Amino acid sequence: MQRVAIVYESKYGNTAQVAEAIREALRGAGVPEVVSMKVDSADVNKVATFDAILVGSPNHIGGPTRRVKKFIRSLAAFDLSGKRLAFFDTYIGGDFGKAVAKMENEFKARNKDTLVVTPGLSLRVDGMKGPVAEGELAKGVAFAKLVAEQRVDA
Ligand SMILES: Cc1cc2nc3c(=O)[nH]c(=O)nc-3n(C[C@H](O)[C@H](O)[C@H](O)COP(=O)(O)O)c2cc1C
Repeated sequence: MQRVAIVYESKYGNTAQVAEAIREALRGAGVPEVVSMKVDSADVNKVATFDAILVGSPNHIGGPTRRVKKFIRSLAAFDLSGKRLAFFDTYIGGDFGKAVAKMENEFKARNKDTLVVTPGLSLRVDGMKGPVAEGELAKGVAFAKLVAEQRVDA
């Protein structure tokens, strides 16, 4: 895999930190080009040219933010077959994996022929403003390796 784009939203900086940990891990895994950007400055036309697209959101009221949801919907205009998508979220209480599942479903409903790397990543933060809970960032690093290695025909 040559080019990876990471698109995320982050109100308090925790999801941004996860995006950065993933970016560094992908670079460490030998991916030549890894870019990350906030969803409000992401140009979907450019993002859709990447080999892999990772989308991250904080859990807001049980799902991804409105902007992230809109971005995922905007990907439906592109032929992403042969590419891979992966989703990640941050959450507080008992909402492990909830925003990730919603993002995956939102995407899969419109893009049938694209590999979604599973399981998606869901990292706990300690309270609304974080920080990312102890040990969680290491899961982000493992997830990046999965993204880099998971076979497209898996
Ligand atoms: C408006 C709002 C709604 C939230 N709702 C939930 C929720 O339903 N479940 C949950 O686990 N966390 C919820 N949270 C906590 C966020 O998931 C947490 O603040 C976020 O992971 C921090 O990420 P960030 O620093 O990237 O913004 C909510 C936070 C905000 C600001």
